Amino acid sequence: MTTISMTVNGKAVTGNVEPRTLLVQFLRENLRLTGTHVGCDTSQCGACVVHVDGAAVKSCTMLAVSCDGSNVTTIEGLANGAELHPMQAAFREHHGLQCGFCTPGMIMSAVDMVNRLGPDLDEKTIREELEGNICRCTGYHNIVKAVEAGAQAMGATGQRVAAE
Ligand code: FES
Ligand code: FES
Repeated sequence: MTTISMTVNGKAVTGNVEPRTLLVQFLRENLRLTGTHVGCDTSQCGACVVHVDGAAVKSCTMLAVSCDGSNVTTIEGLANGAELHPMQAAFREHHGLQCGFCTPGMIMSAVDMVNRLGPDLDEKTIREELEGNICRCTGYHNIVKAVEAGAQAMGATGQRVAAE
């Protein structure tokens, strides 16, 4: 076992992990942050996307030990108390989900998209950027609308993710 430390959603955390423990396992099993989902074992679905040092990553593809000392944001870290992050609010407003399983990863990818590309995103860009996120329910149409609106709302408030 190895002891690792990192900042998750603005809080310092430590834990003992095996060298093979994945970041998503550490988040879900050690820290009980179960908003980050596992939807595949082939690194394709994107349900596990979190931000590490400000960039979106698939947490099923990273070892927890390689995140020692990093700053991690999960879906649980986006809202400001009872106030949803603008991207979360846009998914609710535009019905960008059905079962919700893909939603945490979609939202973390969408926020990263805005952080990298700015708030003025067209449909083609959004669809291309969501290539690594699979939704098995919605047909994507409302997800794209939600990302477009969430991006505009982030731009209007000058908001990036809550904790980088
Ligand atoms: S669980 Fe990470 S990409 Fe599917
Ligand atoms: S809302 Fe069910 S997988 Fe996307």
